[in-house]
Amino acid sequence: MVTLLNTIDDPIARDICRDHGDAPDALLEILHSVQNRHGYLTDGALRTIAYSLNISRAEIHGVVSFYHDYKREAGAKVTLKICRAEACQAVGANALISEAESAFGTKLGAAAKDIALEAAYCLGNCALGPAVLIGDELYGRVDITKLRSLAASQSEGAKT
Ligand code: FES
Repeated sequence: MVTLLNTIDDPIARDICRDHGDAPDALLEILHSVQNRHGYLTDGALRTIAYSLNISRAEIHGVVSFYHDYKREAGAKVTLKICRAEACQAVGANALISEAESAFGTKLGAAAKDIALEAAYCLGNCALGPAVLIGDELYGRVDITKLRSLAASQSEGAKT
């Protein structure tokens, strides 16, 4: 099978590029939007973005590999980003991380089943720590009970 280097084979990525006026300056926003829709950045999405924005695939790969938030493979259904910057540490973020690792059977920076745990460094919610980011939703004063509940509801939502 022959794969053309510049093709539009991801209609979702094409629509997102069009929504941003096919502007190369919007590359980061486009990558975030495409990843939010697919869960990760597929080869087809990157080809489509390169073609739509008229930039090289090498440029896109440079950007994608530079930022940790971009994923090239399917990961856990739900990623819990727990803030471990100073203000959140002062109100129990490290204890929350330990409890989350036990509760979900994984470690920070890893994933188990449907849940991945990641560290964040200040989510801009310092007065309401410990802060947790799930997708685009920010939560404050999160304890392990609330985190379990959020993870369960997000996992249910991801199945539908
Ligand atoms: S230190 Fe956690 S949100 Fe700012």
